[in-house]
Amino acid sequence: MFKLTPKEYDFSSVQGITLKQLQQHYKLYEGYVSKINEIWNIPNDAKEFKDSNTTYSKMRSLKLGETFALNGVKLHQLYFQNMTGGFNNPTGEIIKLIKRDFNSCENFLQYFKNVGLAVRGWAILAIDPLDNRLHVFGSDAHDVGAVWDSYPLLVMDVYEHAYFMDFGTDRSKYIDTFIKSINWRIVNGRLQKYDMIKSAVDSVRHVENPSIYPMWTIKDDED
Ligand SMILES: [Fe+2]
Repeated sequence: MFKLTPKEYDFSSVQGITLKQLQQHYKLYEGYVSKINEIWNIPNDAKEFKDSNTTYSKMRSLKLGETFALNGVKLHQLYFQNMTGGFNNPTGEIIKLIKRDFNSCENFLQYFKNVGLAVRGWAILAIDPLDNRLHVFGSDAHDVGAVWDSYPLLVMDVYEHAYFMDFGTDRSKYIDTFIKSINWRIVNGRLQKYDMIKSAVDSVRHVENPSIYPMWTIKDDED
């Protein structure tokens, strides 16, 4: 039986957002964990889904619910993790990349904020293996706008439920407060993990003698 347990975060380290607001938000996250536990315990039994249909069917409901709940879990974990625990001074390798791809840290933070003001769900700083550069993606909901294979480095929740209790309609003030809470050590740690994964993938792609891996006949010009 699959059972995911909600992760815990030190909300007392967050300045400017009340514990009440964060605890209410956390309850929503727990709800997604509970739903993914429910969904991932449904057997992969084809005969249970014979009515599959793109307008309405059991499979359609299941698959839409699955991606919504799963991204709800993952994005909230990334968000809570990168806004707790201190280490709020922007330093490390990530800042070098930010300066390379956004000219300055100040410009990046303003750009990131502008994305947060323009979407209804999430602003996500990610690094993409296609160009190995930083990108800020915006999405209107957990299951909208996700980019496959991009690696998330910094995640900001801009749903109203993330700030309305403390900031009312002032999303701009919430974003400024969030930015001050960013744990840059966590962001740097994710960048390090991406580099390790990319090196491992690249080393497989450049295997000199693919015949020793009969299942893999990947060439450099193929994806
Ligand atoms: Fe949220």
